[in-house]
Amino acid sequence: MSASLATVSYLGATILFILCLGGLSNQETARRGNLYGIIGMTIAVLATVFGPRVVAGGLPWIIGAMVVGGAVGLYAARVVKMTQMPELVALMHSMVGLAACLVGFASYIDTSIAYTGAEKAIHEIEIYVGILIGAVTFSGSVIAFGKLSGKIGGKPVLLPGRHFLNLAGLLIVIYFGREFLHAGTIAQGMTPLIVMTIISLLFGVHMVMAIGGADMPVVVSMLNSYSGWAAAATGFMLSNDLLIVTGALVGSSGAILSYIMCNAMNRNFLSVIAGGFGSDGGAPAPAASGSVQPAGEVVAVSATETADLLREAKNVIIVPGYGMAVAQAQHTVYEITEYLREKGVNVRFGIHPVAGRMPGHMNVLLAEAKVPYDIVFEMDELNEDFPETDVAMVIGANDIVNPAAQEDPASPIAGMPVLEVWKAKTSIVMKRSMASGYAGVDNPLFYKDNNRMLFGDAKKMLEEVFVALKAAE
Ligand code: TAP
Repeated sequence: MSASLATVSYLGATILFILCLGGLSNQETARRGNLYGIIGMTIAVLATVFGPRVVAGGLPWIIGAMVVGGAVGLYAARVVKMTQMPELVALMHSMVGLAACLVGFASYIDTSIAYTGAEKAIHEIEIYVGILIGAVTFSGSVIAFGKLSGKIGGKPVLLPGRHFLNLAGLLIVIYFGREFLHAGTIAQGMTPLIVMTIISLLFGVHMVMAIGGADMPVVVSMLNSYSGWAAAATGFMLSNDLLIVTGALVGSSGAILSYIMCNAMNRNFLSVIAGGFGSDGGAPAPAASGSVQPAGEVVAVSATETADLLREAKNVIIVPGYGMAVAQAQHTVYEITEYLREKGVNVRFGIHPVAGRMPGHMNVLLAEAKVPYDIVFEMDELNEDFPETDVAMVIGANDIVNPAAQEDPASPIAGMPVLEVWKAKTSIVMKRSMASGYAGVDNPLFYKDNNRMLFGDAKKMLEEVFVALKAAE
């Protein structure tokens, strides 16, 4: 393939990636957006593999790597459960970081292009910064994977003087950066490069280990952004324009997502990117001293009683959470929704920005179950409607409906905006036990006078509710 055809292909792929992001920002156009992304990536891969930069003899290596990578990807996509998607995404981010590190080291020891003067300095800065971002992304994402999959505890690990440790790490990285640029030979440059890589890896671990329960969504979206910048840095090292543009698109859209997540969690965006999460630095969730212990009586209801409450309601708001994903209850939710709508009940869905374990988790599940988009609302769009709501049905959600966020300043989730389901005439919480949610915080909602608990697996209980609804016809 000629250089000009490769450039035109890259341009086409860039436009398709932009269209892809535009499409993905809306549920109705998401499928089309995805398709643009697939076509764009196919063009990008073909133009790179058959482009002028691949030397003779390199093709079998590339095809071999693509077969191995493609097989692993295909296998993962087929076996991974919907509830495991967040950790899979974290693992993929770590791969981007690792690739940036490996490309950085490879381009440093590659002597096929002889850089001199300012070009050499620029190339070495690209390598140093690329490996730095890549290493932080890699180790941070591996820890995020561990936390999301439950292999590492959700409690924040706060080292004494951690901000000073970070500052010391930064100063060492700057010092060795200077040493790296002044190194006479590749062998001399290797030591500062390796020291910086180790410090960056430790920083990634330290940064994510310090994050507690409910702040994880911000970290996930931030690592998403970092992986984009790592890819862009790789693009600079390889002088690949498409990789620079694509990385910048992912990096900036991830940064926007982080900003949205920060607003959702009531966190300061600048303190997040500077590494100082929240005002309390992520206090250990369950052990938060001074937080009020919920008290009162818990009233359990049966599926039949739930069906009675729903039948008598005029306005119903359904709040889905992580438990709906675990139970795969979305299809039964859809059936109940359609049934109630046919009976003239106004059923709407309230989606919290961090419900589930990944951004848009609930929207994906509801779209899969064919729930109409026009009855699915963001938290802010219907939070004021709860006082006029007869039944707020909480399906496998916990932290996102926890009144302690508003009522208890000592709570680890204090200040986090929540769906105010307790303001409805009756709220019904469907879950298996009194266990806490991801943040590990007790939920006073369960003890409120107007709250009812429907204990059991969400799918099983909803099926029983559906049977009871139809039986009473
Ligand atoms: P959670 O607070 O995690 O609560 C989910 C509840 O679902 C649990 O209390 C659990 O209680 C219940 N559950 C689990 N399996 C169930 C089943 N089969 N049937 C019925 N219930 C079941 O979820 P949420 O309210 O969606 O809040 C999300 C939390 O995750 C937030 O703290 C958020 O910060 C965090 N987080 C979010 C993200 C993103 S990006 N969205 C990423 C990482 C972390 P039982 O065990 O008693 O059933």
